[in-house]
Amino acid sequence: MKSFWQRRFILEILQKKILNRKKILLGVTGGIAAYKAASLIRLLIKNGAEVKVVCTPNALNFVTPLTLSTLSKNAIYSHFFVQETGEWVNHVELGKWADAIIIAPATANTMAKMADGLCDNLLLATYLSADCPVFFAPAMDLDMYLHPASKKNIITLKSFENIELPAGTGELASGLIGKGRMCEPETILEIVSDYFSKSISLEGKTILVNAGPTYEKLDPVRFIGNYSSGKMGKAIANELCNRGAKVILVLGPVKSDGLDTRVELIKIESAQDMYEACSKAFTQCDAAILSAAVADYRPAVRADQKIKKKADNYNLELIKTVDVLKSLGTMKTPNQVLIGFALETENEFNNAQSKLKKKNLDFIVLNSMNDKGAGFGKDTNKITIIEKNGKSHTFDTKPKKDVAKDIITVLESHL
Ligand code: CTP
Repeated sequence: MKSFWQRRFILEILQKKILNRKKILLGVTGGIAAYKAASLIRLLIKNGAEVKVVCTPNALNFVTPLTLSTLSKNAIYSHFFVQETGEWVNHVELGKWADAIIIAPATANTMAKMADGLCDNLLLATYLSADCPVFFAPAMDLDMYLHPASKKNIITLKSFENIELPAGTGELASGLIGKGRMCEPETILEIVSDYFSKSISLEGKTILVNAGPTYEKLDPVRFIGNYSSGKMGKAIANELCNRGAKVILVLGPVKSDGLDTRVELIKIESAQDMYEACSKAFTQCDAAILSAAVADYRPAVRADQKIKKKADNYNLELIKTVDVLKSLGTMKTPNQVLIGFALETENEFNNAQSKLKKKNLDFIVLNSMNDKGAGFGKDTNKITIIEKNGKSHTFDTKPKKDVAKDIITVLESHL
């Protein structure tokens, strides 16, 4: 029986639609509490979440795939290969798909494997591949729960920043009474919703991001470009979405894969296109983060036909492109926040600081090509943020997703 407050909270969650369109991957392991997965899926779906379920092979002894697939409206994953077709189930994609993983119930066995990084089933492989928040709901018998090994594993998982959905006290499957009952689905919904509601700090803000290279055409088959992958800007766009902002991403000619579906995407090719798209969008934005590697020069003449090979030397005349960031710096109103990037190979700090002033920025994100973990195409970055008041913050080398969080946390202090 749900308490009055619990019913009120669920109603509030439903009204606020905190989990609306959130992608939840539910991991179900082999314990008697697996039956509670059914009501948890119903609550999540009712709350607007999209749910996919990964079961350990043993979980299928406690709950049927048909129940879980009917409720989640998705196929159930339980093995590395689909048994009928032999098709490989991509655990990396499943892990990257999820905005959050909830492992409920989490048996003593699964918790031990998670804590030790073992990977002998699809759920564990997905857990290890994921970089989203992970919630786990310990569920086991009283003495198993009290065993120092289980306690140690819970502490280890929390040290990985996994979030415990605390076990309750009551009658257990063995008939014993004590702690070890899986957290009730309503409480799980409360904890997960609370987690996401705290993270919508940028709700109501519209933020422009640009990313990727630009291509400057030379003739119909050639261009001048650079190696930018757009990964940093895409990570920023996704993190802004996670915090509830409306995001407009102007992206150069690179793949737009891995982007949050809520991002409003504008694809462009040249520096001039970048300028036109960004200056138009900026007027409706509270902030802009310009991470694109915009070409500084373009060919003075763009040939209509393919340039033919003739003389031994070919001199190309280049002319300056528009500086998109600098233009936004002149348009900027006192209520808007403008952030630029600086890619430097020497005299890094001073060069970045002079760009910050010249382009009228609130802060600049410095990348040095001399840092091993930074640079085009990498999955990590190492940054220093320099603010217009002269303060600077240097961060360790981190995955770009975490670098995006650091940048946006500083942005929040300016908004
Ligand atoms: N930028 C821009 N438009 C350009 C060139 C750069 O908007 N035509 C922006 C970049 O997106 C970045 C910042 O300006 O946010 C700094 O880019 P960077 O390449 O480090 O410096 P530049 O200003 O181009 O100067 P230099 O190449 O001489 O270092």
